[in-house]
Amino acid sequence: MIVVTGATGNVGRTLVRILADQGHEVTAVARRITRADVPTGVQAVAADLSQPSADLPSEVDAVFLLIGGDLMMAGDPARVVAPFAGSGKIVLLSSQGVATRPESLSHGRAFAAFEQAVMDSGAEWTFLRPGGFASNAYAWASSVRATRTIAAPFGEIGLPIIDPDDIAAVAAATLTQPGHAKAIYELTGPTLITPRQRAAVIADAIGEPVTFVDQTREEARAQMLTFMPAPVADTTLDILGTPTVREQTVSPDVERILGRAATPFTGWARHNAAAFR
Ligand SMILES: NC(=O)c1ccc[n+]([C@@H]2O[C@H](COP(=O)([O-])OP(=O)(O)OC[C@H]3O[C@@H](n4cnc5c(N)ncnc54)[C@H](OP(=O)(O)O)[C@@H]3O)[C@@H](O)[C@H]2O)c1
Repeated sequence: MIVVTGATGNVGRTLVRILADQGHEVTAVARRITRADVPTGVQAVAADLSQPSADLPSEVDAVFLLIGGDLMMAGDPARVVAPFAGSGKIVLLSSQGVATRPESLSHGRAFAAFEQAVMDSGAEWTFLRPGGFASNAYAWASSVRATRTIAAPFGEIGLPIIDPDDIAAVAAATLTQPGHAKAIYELTGPTLITPRQRAAVIADAIGEPVTFVDQTREEARAQMLTFMPAPVADTTLDILGTPTVREQTVSPDVERILGRAATPFTGWARHNAAAFR
């Protein structure tokens, strides 16, 4: 059996579907999950990973561990990992920030602590360290729908953002195939793309003009603080505004594992155009 945590999110939802389509026995975990959220044949378990839960299956073949919501900043890594310690392998969705922002409380130190807890568990492990997700563009969906505008800082700075469906595909491969023990994969999209270019891609996907509005860092920060803690917002803005060379480098890992190129932002926007109409 394979356990997928974060099963209703951007990565987990797709991962559950891939594994179920491949015929694996899957248990999908999130706090508010119901049977209606998962494909037929998949077991849904509602559990908060910050608390012990008798409902979590133990000693399973493999676990996809996603540190969702408040867990990154407020979760106790050893306690979150403990229920899965007897599993055959743990594939942790970590962050590129462990390597590129080691001093950052959120992206670097928090995920480094979860990686350490997974290593300490005794299970075989694989770490997936993605850069920024294409799905972060959902933050623009309501303004595109309402006024056909996108406001963002650092409009000319490109990053190789990744489609979360590619992360799910890599996770499925590492959960089900041998050869990934003690591997750390850095996951990016296939090319650098700036916020202004992303706005143009979304405009193409919905077939309507979209105006790009330059935001200052402070304007962007004020908006981000309405849905994320200050340390997460500050490191995210550092990455968006002053990326390191590594954060602007396309990693070969997605293509190496999947045998196909990573999905460009155009693909993500086409699949998710309905959210912006
Ligand atoms: N966005 C980026 O650019 C980026 C970059 C690098 C790394 N990451 C990392 O990727 C992860 C986010 O992935 P995502 O976008 O697929 O997630 P998401 O769409 O935000 O979904 C989070 C999932 O985790 C579940 N969850 C949240 N808190 C939980 C808890 N305490 N116990 C059990 N389940 C919980 C949520 O369901 P419920 O709310 O119902 O529990 C949901 O299924 C985070 O760890 C983030 O730090 C993100």
